[in-house]
Amino acid sequence: MSFLESLPKPFFVLAPMDDVTDSVFRQIVADCAPPDFYVTEFVNVDGLQSPGRPKLIKKLQFTKKEKPIIAQLWGLKPENFYKTTKEVVEMGFDGVDINMGCPVKTVIKNGACAALINNRELAGEIIDAVKQGAGSALPVSVKTRVGFTTVDMSWIELLLTKKLNMLSIHGRTAKQLSKVPADWDLIGQAREMRDSLCPSTLIVGNGDVKNRAHGQELAEKYQLDGVMIGRGIFDDPFVFSKDSPWASYGKNQKIELYKKHIELFAKTWKKGEYRFESLRKFCKVYISDFDGAHELRAKFMEAPNSQEALELLG
Ligand SMILES: Cc1cc2nc3c(=O)[nH]c(=O)nc-3n(C[C@H](O)[C@H](O)[C@H](O)COP(=O)(O)O)c2cc1C
Repeated sequence: MSFLESLPKPFFVLAPMDDVTDSVFRQIVADCAPPDFYVTEFVNVDGLQSPGRPKLIKKLQFTKKEKPIIAQLWGLKPENFYKTTKEVVEMGFDGVDINMGCPVKTVIKNGACAALINNRELAGEIIDAVKQGAGSALPVSVKTRVGFTTVDMSWIELLLTKKLNMLSIHGRTAKQLSKVPADWDLIGQAREMRDSLCPSTLIVGNGDVKNRAHGQELAEKYQLDGVMIGRGIFDDPFVFSKDSPWASYGKNQKIELYKKHIELFAKTWKKGEYRFESLRKFCKVYISDFDGAHELRAKFMEAPNSQEALELLG
């Protein structure tokens, strides 16, 4: 039995976000208010199975605090998905997710991620390779969108014939990027299709969820198994809490949390695996809604490394 079957309903997941939800940030979220499980940033299997491996392996690093955790894979070659899935089993992950939703140009121009919506033969081969690699050891899931240029529920139908353990659906097409509101009616339609085509596949809704209460409301309305929250974490690191204290956090508490994040980052990525600059993305999370926040953010953006950033924060 996989861990997915023993989760509460609805369950809550921290969405994978490249260069944001690394092991360090997942630990920060775990200490604030943990989701029911985590997903790694997407990691390229063709790169991992090449001399480029040392640069990518950081994305599969995790600590006990981030469990349960699913590894998210992307790429083009089914044999590399197979090999990597075998490794992921050995590494102690709790599941494998295949990214079939990323719409970024540099990724889709080669036919990967969301481009697989238009290459169903390869998409099927990739899923089969991952399932073969996972055997009965790990659940297999896909994260995708509701179409490439236009809404295309035949894509969801195809995925549901693959007997996945879980299907996470971002309610936008690839072409829409994040420019229009996510369409949760389509996610509801996918859940109805699941009920008739493959009742054992868990359906997770994703897109524009502000907080836990909002996610709960959508899950109830559309009868979903789970809800995935991504950018909502930027407005509230306690987004998975039933009763977030964030609105009452003052300047000092926010800065203490940022310092904790930076210290853990410096301790974890000692060899420069992640660039210090990636921490600047969090500036708006912690340095906001207090007097002088704007000026402090401007100064922070100029700090060249963790040490100077910590000195600046005092
Ligand atoms: C900075 C950033 C990086 C992302 N990286 C990934 C990724 O590695 N894998 C993935 O499946 N989705 C990725 N996404 C998409 C999110 O997981 C999520 O589907 C999307 O942000 C919509 O959910 P939200 O409105 O709750 O943020 C990324 C999104 C952002 C903003």
